[in-house]
Amino acid sequence: MKEELDERERMGRLRRLSTAVWLNDGWIERDGKRLLNLASNHYLGLSPWVSGKEWEALRRETEAMGEPGVRIGAGASRLIGGHDPHHQALEREMAEFKQREACLVFTSGYMANAGVIAALVGRHDAVFSDRLNHASIVDGIVLSRAHHVRHPHRDLNRLEAQLKKWSAGATGEAGRVPRKLIVTDSVFSMDGTEAPLADLVTLKERYGAMLMVDEAHSGGVYGPEGRGMCHELGLHERVDVIMGTYGKAFGAVGAYIAADGIVIRYLVNRARTFIYNTGLPPFMAALIRARLREVRAADEARSELMRKAALFRARLRAGGLDTGEGASHIVPVMLGTDERAVAVSAALAEAGIAGVAIRPPTVPEGAARIRFAPTPQHRDEDLLRVADTVARLAQYI
Ligand SMILES: Cc1ncc(COP(=O)(O)O)c(C=O)c1O
Repeated sequence: MKEELDERERMGRLRRLSTAVWLNDGWIERDGKRLLNLASNHYLGLSPWVSGKEWEALRRETEAMGEPGVRIGAGASRLIGGHDPHHQALEREMAEFKQREACLVFTSGYMANAGVIAALVGRHDAVFSDRLNHASIVDGIVLSRAHHVRHPHRDLNRLEAQLKKWSAGATGEAGRVPRKLIVTDSVFSMDGTEAPLADLVTLKERYGAMLMVDEAHSGGVYGPEGRGMCHELGLHERVDVIMGTYGKAFGAVGAYIAADGIVIRYLVNRARTFIYNTGLPPFMAALIRARLREVRAADEARSELMRKAALFRARLRAGGLDTGEGASHIVPVMLGTDERAVAVSAALAEAGIAGVAIRPPTVPEGAARIRFAPTPQHRDEDLLRVADTVARLAQYI
């Protein structure tokens, strides 16, 4: 282990934890230093703290449900007596929000992706996955033991060729027609690019595949009331499985799957990360319900976020930097080598800016970068200053 860690250190790939204390208005304190926090997924800038008033409302609401207090732990898997009235209410409210028949809450996005993909497909099936899909999707595919058919980022021609080939050669070894699942991030987490969702829906319908869309980075940010990218494009009824997390724009933790009732009933019976995992803490389910109301009302924050991200990206580009092909609220600055990304990140910290170096294997070899995520709280002048600082640093590092 030591040799491996030393090797990682030598390659500039060692990961380390550092404690960050969240301050007001998009700032953090790390190692005693105040930093403008452009390294979070707290996209709407909702208050990261629970207020006394919020707790009080939560306590009263819980008592009205017939419970003596707000429960901390679910106490068991939700199937074994851990299903709280707040879980039930959250799933009902989420199904209404996502305008789908039913919804199922998981303890994290990682758990949702790992469990759902492994439940939907098995050894005789195939998953068609964009090369830049999140690690939790990749792990779900590995866990499923299905054929892992990857295509270059957003390459629809390659995907169609693969779907065609698989459909022609498919056998009935599974004792049923082999399943095909297309799975994609909606907004790609490290590139800020958007998935070609309309085309994916066309392909999935043409080749009789299922489509699962991970809205981790678009939930709360895209679409009316933050319902997500599938809604923004009017595709929410044509996507088989919509997944999203509460750890990003919602500022909480946990995840949901929205789908037809039969899919949700199937997952309750088949998704091992739901069946064999202690349920989401009931107090968190209750706080997410409050968060859902805030997210729905956050239209102003959503448009400010997009305006600020566009302003920031334009300034970076004007400074000669490569911000990739995306146009979303996630803004990467491509730096190439690991060493360069690490050195720029360290120099940014010196300048009072938190911007994290993202290196392989999170991104492809030679594509190290700093990933910036502005929030509506960041002032325009601060973002412009950060862009100018990055441009200056990139000239000599
Ligand atoms: C696209 C995507 N899906 C899933 C996850 C996992 O979600 P969670 O952090 O809730 O486990 C993340 C990030 O964490 C992500 O970026």
